[in-house]
Amino acid sequence: MNIGIDKIGFYAPHLYVDMNNLALARNVEPAKFTIGIGQEKMSIAPITQDPVTLAANAALEILDEQDKEKIDFVIFGTESGIDNSKSAGVYVHGLLGLNPHARSVELKQACYGATAAIQMAKGHVALNPESKVLVLASDIARYGLNTSGESTQGAGAVALVISADPKILALEDKSAYLTDDIMDFWRPIYSDKAFVDGKFSNEQYILFFQKVWESYKSKSGLGLADFEAICYHLPYTKMGLKALRTVLEQGTEKDQERLVENYQISTTYNRNVGNIYTGSLYLSLLSLLELNENLQAGSRIGLFSYGSGAVGEFFTGILQPNYREHLHVDYHKQLFDTRTEVSVPEYEEIFEKTLPIDGSTVEFDIDSDPATICLSGMKDNMRLYINKHN
Ligand code: COA
Repeated sequence: MNIGIDKIGFYAPHLYVDMNNLALARNVEPAKFTIGIGQEKMSIAPITQDPVTLAANAALEILDEQDKEKIDFVIFGTESGIDNSKSAGVYVHGLLGLNPHARSVELKQACYGATAAIQMAKGHVALNPESKVLVLASDIARYGLNTSGESTQGAGAVALVISADPKILALEDKSAYLTDDIMDFWRPIYSDKAFVDGKFSNEQYILFFQKVWESYKSKSGLGLADFEAICYHLPYTKMGLKALRTVLEQGTEKDQERLVENYQISTTYNRNVGNIYTGSLYLSLLSLLELNENLQAGSRIGLFSYGSGAVGEFFTGILQPNYREHLHVDYHKQLFDTRTEVSVPEYEEIFEKTLPIDGSTVEFDIDSDPATICLSGMKDNMRLYINKHN
């Protein structure tokens, strides 16, 4: 039985800052951010969007009534969760009006969470072929104003429906994974900003890729020639390229050209959104599928997932016949085209705006946020959400 990605949706908040302007404000050469790091625009989440609403908005666009009935498992991968007890999956389950006879949980391992969720979903569907699983990958990446990680922030979510006989990508069984207890990036429970050893993190990302790629090759007997494209977890778009370059010499000139060209296409959305942690790899996949119109059904796509701390995995999927008919290319184009630019001072003000932590009541102006699902306020330490369509 084929199991894999049946649907894929994406949502980013409507605000962004231009990286050229951020560079000028930080006394940095703009080329460092746009070429050295490889980012053009950075999504900014207003106070009315959090990881729950971003995920719910991403899912809203792809689910029909039959999905809502058949989904019996919601797995929410995030590293910027809003509650240390209640899972973000339960909130989204409620906001989308899913079948109550479902499991809903949250998974955490830095940017690897959604990959673990997909593998768990695959196992669930193998045991329950009629089931559909909603996998959510949603984060707001915050390193802090004027920090070295600031240029690699972002906000957004990807929603995936995993089912039997998937319409987009059938996941293959062979995969290679690795865990090593390292401190390259972490966020203590008391901090709303991440700590990172940037250089070490970059080195470990590349090392993990090399190790899982070699392990995958010996398990599968496949090599670069068998791949149409390899998508990467992208904290910033230069990162995956650094890893890809270390193995390119294993392929012919034709393999190298194809993989580098598809890599560039796969980074377009990420370049304009920034780092969305758990969703970054899947945003890169979406970018490749939606922006390269020449991909053939039957092509194999490799996926490298990396979650600092650290866990890495390399796994693969086969593009399904007529997969393009099941993408939401126009919707995503509109999402990008209708965003509003904010200045650096405006971004800084939004960044500093945080929710009350003393139980006081606040109400937000949700009319200024075009999203369907918004955080409308807080009361008695509870977040209040609204679906404008209900
Ligand atoms: N024109 C073009 N490129 C330029 C440039 C210019 N004017 N100035 C600098 N650069 C390049 C550098 O050569 C470097 O490229 P390289 O890495 O290919 O050598 C790149 O820009 C970044 O410069 P660097 O000095 O290394 O930047 P930094 O010390 O500010 O740190 C990060 C960059 C990415 C390490 C930092 O932003 C970070 O820690 N981000 C978070 C990383 C992360 O998300 N890790 C966790 C998950 S994987």
